[in-house]
Amino acid sequence: MSELTVEMKVNGRQVKKIVAAHMRLLDFLREELYLTGTKEGCGAGECGTCSVFFNGVLMKSCLIPVAKAQGADIVTIEGLADKDLTPVQKAFHKTGAVQCGYCIPGMVMASTAALQENPEADAEEIRERLGGNICRCTGYQKIVEAVELARDVMNGKRDAGELEEDPEETFIGSNTRRIDAPSKVTGALKYAGDMVLPGMLHMQVLRSPLPHARIVSLDVSAAEAMPGVEAVITSADVPGVDGFGVFVNDQPVLARDKVRFVGEPVAAVVAEDLLTARKALKAIKVDYETLPAVFCPHAANEEGAPVLHDYAPNNIVKHIPIRKGDVDKGFAEADLIIEQEYQTQAVEHAYLEPEAGMAYVDPDGVVTVHSPSQNITHHRHMLSRILALPINKVRMVMSPVGGGFGGKEDMIYQGMLAIAAMKTKRPVRLVFTREESLCTSAKRHPVSIRYKMGVKNNGRIVAAEMHYVADGGAYGLSTEGIVRKGAILAAGPYDIPNVKIDTYGIYTNNTPSGAFRTFGSMQSQFATESTLDICSEKLGIDPIELRLINAMTDGCETHTQQKLERVSLTQVLNACAEGAAWEAGPSRVRGAERQDLNGPGTRPPYTPGVTLRAETGTKSGNKKEVA
Ligand code: FES
Repeated sequence: MSELTVEMKVNGRQVKKIVAAHMRLLDFLREELYLTGTKEGCGAGECGTCSVFFNGVLMKSCLIPVAKAQGADIVTIEGLADKDLTPVQKAFHKTGAVQCGYCIPGMVMASTAALQENPEADAEEIRERLGGNICRCTGYQKIVEAVELARDVMNGKRDAGELEEDPEETFIGSNTRRIDAPSKVTGALKYAGDMVLPGMLHMQVLRSPLPHARIVSLDVSAAEAMPGVEAVITSADVPGVDGFGVFVNDQPVLARDKVRFVGEPVAAVVAEDLLTARKALKAIKVDYETLPAVFCPHAANEEGAPVLHDYAPNNIVKHIPIRKGDVDKGFAEADLIIEQEYQTQAVEHAYLEPEAGMAYVDPDGVVTVHSPSQNITHHRHMLSRILALPINKVRMVMSPVGGGFGGKEDMIYQGMLAIAAMKTKRPVRLVFTREESLCTSAKRHPVSIRYKMGVKNNGRIVAAEMHYVADGGAYGLSTEGIVRKGAILAAGPYDIPNVKIDTYGIYTNNTPSGAFRTFGSMQSQFATESTLDICSEKLGIDPIELRLINAMTDGCETHTQQKLERVSLTQVLNACAEGAAWEAGPSRVRGAERQDLNGPGTRPPYTPGVTLRAETGTKSGNKKEVA
């Protein structure tokens, strides 16, 4: 490995080091100087989390070879403030522009640069200047608000006191400042990938290039013999039960006998440095026997399809059937029947912080794992089984979560980290690359839905039938919970007398699907609400009116036999309609038909058009145009 001596000024201090010639400026700052406020989000110059000032100019340190920084003057987030926070940092704190915080050091650097380049930048220009920085949490509004506040204070247009905590701030109805924001705007907060421990080893993972194959042989001897390699972990090293999951324990820590998706971990190298660990991966020999793979959940459920797990010969992870009333009778009573098919896609969580963790065995023999897990108690119990240790000998520490959105609920790498720490008796750190994160982390379930809805001319839904098939990918993860929630919420918040729901999670050779915001119900709602919109069009009933006609009210019973009390859906719908200045279209629900709607139940009297008024504005279709 060729080396070079680099010398530069960093945050006002002269530094000189002998480093690997291939090093990036980002690695130099983080690994050699421990300035971990500069983050790595993508490693490809796209996300802006690694932004620094390079000779006064904002640049992305992941794109700069350290050799190019010879003699340069570098300022990182740690060097931005002197004793107090800068106005930009204070403004981020004040306006609530900080959530998970992983993007925030880069955002603060870019915002500082924006105001240095144009102290009068307006909101549009601020947005333009922050275009190279990505945030997954805040929605950007608060960030732009923060930069505008800082700008006005720096220009003397607003009082500096506005950056401080509001004296009459109360918790309810006001913007409460986050207590962890100062550590995020200064880059001081340590995420798992920022952690460094004495004697720490680095882990890299060999992953399957095939979607479905038998492992004929796995030879790690050459990798183990390489200087600097401390251990190579395979499924043979799992001391306890090699199967874990949220609902079904179908996932091995590292592939055992078979691989079931591209990217599945097969072996993990633990070495003194990352480069050695990466080189050692290439020395591992795996012979695969390719097996037929299946990527469509419908095909996976057909007779003769490749079987992923022996316990599930038809590849069904879970089927949730729910019945209420008699749908055939309901459809026979309907004046209009809509049948529709829907397909949703896999979605990547794309949190800015890639998966990362640090494991070590403490002096009392407690195996400790730090990781941004969103479900640490469950992860701890799974680790206890995998490691064959009593629960009091396993500790999970939830490190700051640099964005999760459900994607860090499912455990996918903590097991191999813990085993490596036990085997080497040294701390071990693993940080996924962005490519690894994209290829191997769980996605939102793609779901195909067949939906049938029967309605009367007066808008009352009399029957709903849903057939929901979720692609669970190669392992169960949260699939069972997701199809359960998809079924429970399948009929929406509507009072429907006859309901038939079947939701399925199916194994395929795709990347496993897992938890994601809304946990399976978003897919159901998409189908239900879209079908309602089609009914609305066909019946000539305003979409909000149609929902008000069918909305659950006090005393209604869901299709899961839950009797509801204190239901405020109609009030919420009316408030939304009012807030959006929604003007109801002409109703075709008249006379006797309306009597049906007000019926003997607990539904409040319904009068079309009365509650749905546009206060101002020009009518354009159903929506107000705001000048
Ligand atoms: Fe920006 Fe989380 S606060 S990515």
